[in-house]
Amino acid sequence: MKEDTLIIIKPDAFSKELVGRIISELEEVGLKIFGCRQVRLSKGEAKEFYREHRGKEFYEAVSDFMSSNPILVMVFSGENAVSRARKIMGGTDPRDAEEGTIRKRWAQDYRHNIIHGSDSLTSAKREIKFFFPGGEGIYWWKKKEFKL
Ligand code: PPS
Repeated sequence: MKEDTLIIIKPDAFSKELVGRIISELEEVGLKIFGCRQVRLSKGEAKEFYREHRGKEFYEAVSDFMSSNPILVMVFSGENAVSRARKIMGGTDPRDAEEGTIRKRWAQDYRHNIIHGSDSLTSAKREIKFFFPGGEGIYWWKKKEFKL
């Protein structure tokens, strides 16, 4: 099934100069970029984005990290985009991530783990709406046949 998923390139990917490589890894398996913007979240916005983790011990830490510097938020589309992107990313903790995955190769730890990807279609819908309200910057392009 064709799906959309939200990917975030986190601040540590910028400092490690991995932004282009990560995008390439996703494009190379046939996922297509349908939305892309660089944003700097406020702490409040980061807390809102991660609200399902409210009350967990890392809630403040993840919100601090994600608002510490600009991030790149992207919508990737394709067959089973949610699970395929998650597979390429690897597990949250790089120590447990599968060999060859983005996080296994480049993540430092739970917090500095390079990339975020929606964990379900329901999350993807909410997260895409969070960063692209009304589908702005995505759907005008997606609906049309994209020819140059
Ligand atoms: S859970 O409870 O299993 O659903 O949480 P998990 O998927 O492991 O992590 C959710 C996001 O929180 C980040 N995280 C942390 N950030 C900072 N410090 C600590 N200790 C920490 N632990 C987890 C983790 O990177 C996940 O971010 P996303 O963007 O969702 O990948």
